[in-house]
Amino acid sequence: MEPKRAQWGSKIGFILAAAGSAVGLGNIWKFPGKAYEGGGGAYILIYLAIVLLIGIPVMLSELTIGRGAQANAIDSYGKLGHPGYKWVGWFGVIVAFIITSYYCHVGGWVLRYVAGYATEPAKIYSDPLGYFYALLGYNATTGETWFPLTGIIFAAIFMAITCFIIVKGVEGGIERFNKIGMPALFVILIILLIRSLTMPGAGEGLKYMLVPDWSKVTFSTVLSALGQAFFSLSLGMAIMVTYGSYLKKEENLAKNAAIICGMDTLVALIAGFIIVPAVFATLGAEGVGKGAGFAFSSLAGVFQQMPGGQFFGILFYLLLLFAALTSCISLVEGVVAFATERFGWKRTPATIILCLVMFLLGAVYTCSQAAFDIKGIWFDFKNGLTTPIFGDFMEFLTDRLMIPVCALGSCLFVGWAWKPQNAIREIELDGKPFRLKKAYSFLVKYLAPISIIIIIVASFATGTTLS
Ligand code: PHE
Repeated sequence: MEPKRAQWGSKIGFILAAAGSAVGLGNIWKFPGKAYEGGGGAYILIYLAIVLLIGIPVMLSELTIGRGAQANAIDSYGKLGHPGYKWVGWFGVIVAFIITSYYCHVGGWVLRYVAGYATEPAKIYSDPLGYFYALLGYNATTGETWFPLTGIIFAAIFMAITCFIIVKGVEGGIERFNKIGMPALFVILIILLIRSLTMPGAGEGLKYMLVPDWSKVTFSTVLSALGQAFFSLSLGMAIMVTYGSYLKKEENLAKNAAIICGMDTLVALIAGFIIVPAVFATLGAEGVGKGAGFAFSSLAGVFQQMPGGQFFGILFYLLLLFAALTSCISLVEGVVAFATERFGWKRTPATIILCLVMFLLGAVYTCSQAAFDIKGIWFDFKNGLTTPIFGDFMEFLTDRLMIPVCALGSCLFVGWAWKPQNAIREIELDGKPFRLKKAYSFLVKYLAPISIIIIIVASFATGTTLS
């Protein structure tokens, strides 16, 4: 009665798609800034320990739930006999929905910068911050605001590309795109790495990233690394459950989880080794920053001073574009898989409608600095209610609350409801014994959930930014 579920066409296709989901803006623009702030090498060691002890077990649990149930994230929990855990899937799908709504707009900005570096680098260099704000319909010097048409158009193109790939299906669209996009991403990373490390003065930055400076590490550094790991590995968002559900029974889940986490971490590290040394060599140590302001405006100074800057600028934003596209695809797929299976919607109209709704919701985000009138109706996003909702509140809701809660739900589900022995049976369906059974059971029952509870409580108590 049920239609046949989609499946990945090949092992490498799945790995690249899952790694494509994980490798995103988080790795390339959030990680380097956080690593810089958290004491370079010291932060890197903490991050590696977190990925190993918490990231991999949670990733393995999510993939196992999906493959065991062969269903979308919400129905998976019920299919495995514990419908009481459905809320975990709901949380995941809702978070994916919210994150997509702004992720596609940031993806649009990235696309704008690919075009910008290709056609008008001088304009970007002469006023980097102004160029960025112009996308949001805002002039920081004069205070003038307008409808951010450019930003909206580029976001629409970005979303349309995502939508097109998803409509093509799991194997024909997502897998195919990732098979081209991910290798391209690696090639670009290596070119940029060589460029950055051969700049005079880059050695200082490299040293900073390799030698641990423990004096910069505080409790909040560890919390922030934990939050970064979840976001970066695309955990707690229904995605790995959905991607796992398209896996064949003969795939080795444990190995796949380790490879995906390894690739994601490798990209974050390489990005750190590109950005921090390049910024040290051009802007000086204080130039390293985080977030959109850094990724879009401060980096202009780096490309301006770097020989061949325009070319490397285009390459860098192309890299971000691939990373953002493959992540956005996975976000939308989690939501589409649910809508098609639960409500019986057809894939194409479901994808188009959902993409449109998420895009429009996110448009409010792009407008968050703007105020303008359309046919006499005055829209004031800058001073209105929309700014706090889409800025801090959404980030708090998703990164600091819903993602950890959803990841906690999958640990508790595997550790205490479905039980590790059933997960291990699913993991061993490929016929090979899972050698780290004991360690896995311990991590998923105790260490991972306790650490996640600490992040949730601490983020309320301290107001630390964990994204
Ligand atoms: N993991 C992606 C990143 O590092 C972001 C992402 C979040 C992707 C949620 C999918 C889902 O940027």
